[in-house]
Amino acid sequence: MAENVCPVWVGHLLANPLRKLIQNPRTILLPHVSPKMTVGDIGCAMGFFSIPMARIVGPSGRVICVDIQEKMLNALKKKAIRAGVDKVVAFRRCSRESFGLEDFEQAMDFILAFAVVHEVPDPEGLFAHIFKALKPGARVLVGEPAGHVSQQQFEKTVFLAQGCGFKQIGAPRIRSSHTTLLEK
Ligand SMILES: C[S@@+](CC[C@H](N)C(=O)[O-])C[C@H]1O[C@@H](n2cnc3c(N)ncnc32)[C@H](O)[C@@H]1O
Repeated sequence: MAENVCPVWVGHLLANPLRKLIQNPRTILLPHVSPKMTVGDIGCAMGFFSIPMARIVGPSGRVICVDIQEKMLNALKKKAIRAGVDKVVAFRRCSRESFGLEDFEQAMDFILAFAVVHEVPDPEGLFAHIFKALKPGARVLVGEPAGHVSQQQFEKTVFLAQGCGFKQIGAPRIRSSHTTLLEK
């Protein structure tokens, strides 16, 4: 795996429940995710956000979890089974060439891309892919780690997303993060 991809041991740290003290996934997700929605978690790792997302969308919803690393997805699968949400979650391994949502066209209600864009070699391609997968008016929440990604780099990310057709409609406060809420 390339050096700029989050190592599996960091994946374990990111899934630690103590992280909820600074980044509560339910609080972050509830303004955007509702029961029965079809949502995506790009760069899901071991599911810090995916499992709460699955609980919110419930048994009639779907959470498409995409990651480039099989080990992250395997760990997520075990957690989803333990949490009783494995029927709601789809586990998809993507590659650098395919972002994993090719079969969705104007079909998704919300996508989360948290702490992943800076690891993607073609962020513009990713935003174009997400844009195609979302329903008109649907939103994507992008978060990047402030200690790792500069303000200038993040502004470039937002600029790339806007170039793909997204409108920036907000920037929810999430501790230790740069954020942007984008609408198709
Ligand atoms: C820093 S972790 C963030 C995990 C999670 N979103 C969170 O906040 O806990 C980044 C994740 O993105 C994944 N990733 C890196 N490049 C990717 C790509 N091109 N497509 C999908 N996932 C990718 C990594 O394997 C890793 O699991």
